[in-house]
Amino acid sequence: MRTTFILGFISLLTAAQGANFPFEAEVLTEADIQDFPSITFGNISALGNPPSYAGPECKEIPGSEGWPADDEWARLNTSLGGVLLKPVPLGAACYDGEHRDDAKCDFILNNASTSRVWINDPLSALTTWPAGDACYAVADTEGLECTQGGYPVYVVNASTVKHVQAAVNFARNKNLRLVIKNTGHDFIGRNVGFGSLSIWTHWLKDFEFLPEYSIGEYQGRAARVAAGIESWEMFERMETHNATFVVAGAYTVGAYGGWMAGGGHSALASTYGLGSDQVLSLQVVTADGQFVTADPNQNVDLFYALRGGGGSTYGVVTSAVVKAHPYTQILSTSLAFNSSITTNGSIDLFWRGFDAYHAYSSTIADNGGTAYSFLSGRTSTGFTFSTSIELPHLSPTAHLALLQPLFTTLTNLGIPVAPGPPSPPTNWLDRTHGIGDRPGSSRFASRLLPRANLSPATNPALFTATQAAIRALLEASSASSAFSFHGITLAPTLAAAGWPANSIGSAANPRFRDALVHADVFPSAGGVRGRDAGAVRDAHALLEGALAPLRGATQAAGVYLNECDVEEPGWQTALFGEVNYARLQGIKRERDPWGVFYAVRGVGSEAWEVREEVDRGVVTQVGRLCRVRG
Ligand SMILES: Cc1cc2nc3c(=O)[nH]c(=O)nc-3n(C[C@H](O)[C@H](O)[C@H](O)COP(=O)(O)OP(=O)(O)OC[C@H]3O[C@@H](n4cnc5c(N)ncnc54)[C@H](O)[C@@H]3O)c2cc1C
Ligand SMILES: *[C@@H]1O[C@H](CO)[C@@H](O)[C@H](O)[C@H]1NC(C)=O
Ligand SMILES: *[C@@H]1O[C@H](CO)[C@@H](O)[C@H](O)[C@H]1NC(C)=O
Ligand SMILES: *[C@@H]1O[C@H](CO)[C@@H](O)[C@H](O)[C@H]1NC(C)=O
Ligand SMILES: *[C@@H]1O[C@H](CO)[C@@H](O)[C@H](O)[C@H]1NC(C)=O
Ligand SMILES: *[C@@H]1O[C@H](CO)[C@@H](O)[C@H](O)[C@H]1NC(C)=O
Ligand SMILES: *[C@@H]1O[C@H](CO)[C@@H](O)[C@H](O)[C@H]1NC(C)=O
Ligand SMILES: *[C@@H]1O[C@H](CO)[C@@H](O)[C@H](O)[C@H]1NC(C)=O
Repeated sequence: MRTTFILGFISLLTAAQGANFPFEAEVLTEADIQDFPSITFGNISALGNPPSYAGPECKEIPGSEGWPADDEWARLNTSLGGVLLKPVPLGAACYDGEHRDDAKCDFILNNASTSRVWINDPLSALTTWPAGDACYAVADTEGLECTQGGYPVYVVNASTVKHVQAAVNFARNKNLRLVIKNTGHDFIGRNVGFGSLSIWTHWLKDFEFLPEYSIGEYQGRAARVAAGIESWEMFERMETHNATFVVAGAYTVGAYGGWMAGGGHSALASTYGLGSDQVLSLQVVTADGQFVTADPNQNVDLFYALRGGGGSTYGVVTSAVVKAHPYTQILSTSLAFNSSITTNGSIDLFWRGFDAYHAYSSTIADNGGTAYSFLSGRTSTGFTFSTSIELPHLSPTAHLALLQPLFTTLTNLGIPVAPGPPSPPTNWLDRTHGIGDRPGSSRFASRLLPRANLSPATNPALFTATQAAIRALLEASSASSAFSFHGITLAPTLAAAGWPANSIGSAANPRFRDALVHADVFPSAGGVRGRDAGAVRDAHALLEGALAPLRGATQAAGVYLNECDVEEPGWQTALFGEVNYARLQGIKRERDPWGVFYAVRGVGSEAWEVREEVDRGVVTQVGRLCRVRG
């Protein structure tokens, strides 16, 4: 009776706070565990203080001694109410064998652009080289073999917290490699893993608008959002609730999975901060299997780490409470010119135009704007530059007034450009219902260019050196081995972020706060599908070589972990910042002494290696995950 009373009281309390979603009320119980001890909770206290756990050298893989027998997997499936999947890669439909299905193969190949066939697949990642490009879909599979590659063996199609807890506990107790996949957008393979059990959060789609929410210094509108919601699904809600939520510009990027966990930039970054800055409270299944709230008052270490410190490292987020901003109109102006404008046969003028644009970065970002620019790699006709400048909150007149000096400068240089009427940007408020994704297999590298590098008025020499480095990067290439430069102008400062980041901090890369451009460098021939290890290494060496001048000019620059080169040198400091990394490593050790969660280039991942890949000198997830030999 007393228990009932207390439980009733607690549920009243949580109801007053805004209860968790119904799917979060379905949790793992003692009764479930008594039936099946393999899903028993972990006990961190039993590992000492600070906790330490030596553990087996390698995670189990199919065929290894400790790999659970089929009947044990079946038993897990029973505890999961039947949501355990054992999928083969989607492309298997195109290959001879038991999964061949010509109609399905045809649909995958020809109808992906008008469907969600890839995004609704339990295994697929949108960047496929980390899984070894295994079993990719192609019409002519002659000479190719379909294997599971780096894709998981089993997938828990989670629809309740109990499913997540059972999967975490089973993986920990059975020494299995655990993977979390949401949308599969990750660029370096954090969402796949050979021989793994995967938790698929994709179908956690609940949403609740909270008209009045207060926590810490935040008071206002908010929303409770489940971890599987995609950006386009939030665009719809923005209209309904006359509110703006900060989400990724790309429609099917998960709004509350890896994007939020790793920082998350968007067209509103300079106005409202990063994706991780939106979070007010989180619901998390931790490495011991417990389901907890992480907010400024409880589990504050997790609340810090999960806002920017990387996905798949500290726990499985099932939902978040995020800020709802006033409905924010964004208007966009595009600008384009190319190197056909020469003076006396020289393309200097093109580069002076690019200088003028980059010199304008702080004006754009400090007025709350962002810009998405492309310097396309050398072609037979030279170089092209284009950008889309996106400014929230401004009327069309104010918008044009803000950009007029840039257009005037360019015109005065002799570059014939004029702004058209500003219009809503194409990558915001999209209504395509998230269709059209298909996998690719490219690699790239990136840098967060510091404000100091792009401030010609205060630091002219550094500005000149930075621009010369970018020019060298593009000009060093030939039409066949060209590099493109994609720059995102943004200033997600702590002032823009507001509370809590501005007072209790966050784990987002501190180099975001003083950056002005997030720069991606893409080899035109970036696709690595079908290349052997040697060719992949050669292509990477070429990329590193081309990047060298820019590295030289931006030595203090950080790198955005969600859009990075998996072979970024000194990745701990580059992706997280030195001070944050040390703190995050401490949290990782305290919260996950077993190493249940692993993501390549995640905090603590230097303790692990994918054995088979070490010898080949490439960084994929095709191979057994083992502790680095001491
Ligand atoms: C086409 C495209 C466009 C992009 N556009 C942008 C952009 O505009 N802005 C930007 O900042 N980034 C962008 N990115 C990068 C994006 O932020 C990352 O790919 C990010 O990892 C995607 O997260 P996800 O949850 O959608 O994908 P997933 O690949 O499913 O997950 C990514 C990582 O997060 C972990 N994870 C996912 N969900 C959870 C959870 N609930 N709990 C714990 N860990 C979890 C996964 O294990 C994995 O490690 C883009 C990527 C692509 C491919
Ligand atoms: C966890 O371990 C501690 C220390 O060994 C022990 O006191 C405690 O009873 C354990 N808790 C559970 C739930 O087993
Ligand atoms: C899990 O159980 C469901 C329902 O019985 C079944 O459809 C599914 O195939 C099972 N999964 C596996 C991997 O056997
Ligand atoms: C696939 O696309 C083709 C060509 O666009 C179209 O005719 C066909 O109806 C589509 N098939 C399905 C099942 O949607
Ligand atoms: C996963 O579960 C959702 C419901 O939560 C269901 O709609 C979907 O079809 C399932 N997917 C697969 C591949 O079983
Ligand atoms: C929507 O929000 C905006 C910005 O706060 C406000 O100006 C406007 O009146 C609201 N519209 C409606 C229909 O409530
Ligand atoms: C280059 O710019 C000129 C206008 O200045 C335009 O006519 C031409 O189409 C552009 N070329 C390319 C390749 O974009
Ligand atoms: C082009 O060349 C002519 C003749 O050498 C010179 O007078 C002129 O200044 C040059 N123009 C530019 C823009 O360099």
